[in-house]
Amino acid sequence: MTTKETLSITDNRTGKSYELPITDGTIKSLDLRKIKVNDTDFGMMTYDPAFMNTASCRSAITYIDGDAGILRYRGYDIAELAEKSSYIEVAYLIMNGELPTAKQLEEFTTSITLHTFVHENVKDFMEGFRYDAHPMGMLVSSVAALSTFYPEAKNVFDEKNRRLQMTRLIAKMPTIAAWSYRHSVGLRYIYPDNDLPYAANFLSMMKRMAERAYKANPVLTRALDVLFILHADHEQNCSTSAMRGVGSSQVDPYSAVAAASAALYGPLHGGANEAVLRMLHEIGDVKNVPAFINAVKDGSAGSRLMGFGHRVYKNYDPRAKVIKKLADQVFEVTGKNPLLDIALELERIALQDEYFVKRKLYPNVDFYSGLIYQAMGFPVDMFPVLFAIPRTVGWLAQWEEMLKDPDQKIARPRQIFTGPDLRSYVDVEKRG
Ligand code: CMC
Repeated sequence: MTTKETLSITDNRTGKSYELPITDGTIKSLDLRKIKVNDTDFGMMTYDPAFMNTASCRSAITYIDGDAGILRYRGYDIAELAEKSSYIEVAYLIMNGELPTAKQLEEFTTSITLHTFVHENVKDFMEGFRYDAHPMGMLVSSVAALSTFYPEAKNVFDEKNRRLQMTRLIAKMPTIAAWSYRHSVGLRYIYPDNDLPYAANFLSMMKRMAERAYKANPVLTRALDVLFILHADHEQNCSTSAMRGVGSSQVDPYSAVAAASAALYGPLHGGANEAVLRMLHEIGDVKNVPAFINAVKDGSAGSRLMGFGHRVYKNYDPRAKVIKKLADQVFEVTGKNPLLDIALELERIALQDEYFVKRKLYPNVDFYSGLIYQAMGFPVDMFPVLFAIPRTVGWLAQWEEMLKDPDQKIARPRQIFTGPDLRSYVDVEKRG
């Protein structure tokens, strides 16, 4: 039998048949539009709430095979990058498609380092937040405000200008993130130390007190750098879709990154690691784990098992595997996080429990990352911020890819209207 890369559809309302081309295992939704019952019919659409089965773009950045538990940036396996690379090198790879030469890496590192400072006015308006402001709320607003400092960032199709804004964003996110934290605990803001690499500089801005230069423990600095690598991109997740959707209006990248950060803030996305820690505290003791699992299953826990499950991974999240190993190295320096035993017991029971097995619910990236962050002395409120810093490069690379893609236009989904038909306005005194 000869095979054809097409899909035949028969519309049983009309008896007509259609043949649609298949490319990369996909049909174009717009090809369905020609399926009509009559000439005035708008044409067939697909209904796909939450984009469960819709490819919204072509992308060459990140590959995920959720069933096999595979994650690759530009073809490189995440575990190998976590073992051998650095966050800055991975950022270059994600932005440019290839690993840098030694010279390219040096130039890229220098340009990021030279853009870590922010305008003094940024500091002034950050000081205006309420004393107990959540650092993620501060980050979202402060990144958006950066657009007012760089009005030329609107020229999104000017490649040189666009790259400059991307460099600025990658460089300034740690500064704003650290200052959001310092504000929330009432400590003076610490300026970047350009003698330090990316993760070490962030730790310095977070932790430095009276000392002239902050020296972080190298094991902890490396652990943070690895966590940054693991969070750098994850293809078309909620925040990246927000970045692409908002960016498709051709707004400047600061506004688009603010929108992506806002999407990341939610407890089902980047806020999940914060939710995991709160959940572990609430469980309180290993002996309470079975009852908690039962409460999750019957709905009385009031929440899901946070840090478990994923829209794409129906297997162990490969990032969670790396993080679990990393946790041992961190705990050797910091001492074991007492919540670890509760987390291990949750994982042990959940992985044997029919409810979780049947639904293919495994630990995701957020299940163990919070334990490391907490052991390193980061407050729970900072967890989504620690996700936003490294994800910035993923958002930007995806945004740039979208701008260069001739298939892309302003994002504008359709709807199935379910409201009332035309009716006449009734004066207020005549309304029952
Ligand atoms: N605990 C208990 N049950 C769950 C969980 C969970 N964590 N996740 C999914 N389920 C159940 C869900 O109730 C449903 O059951 P049923 O078929 O009986 O109705 C089934 O599994 C499928 O769930 P879904 O809501 O259709 O799956 P989804 O793909 O829409 O949701 C998810 C993915 C990540 C939002 C979800 O698994 C979840 O809420 N997990 C907890 C939050 C979390 O850890 N988020 C971090 C995600 S990884 C990092 C990131 O992307 O930011």
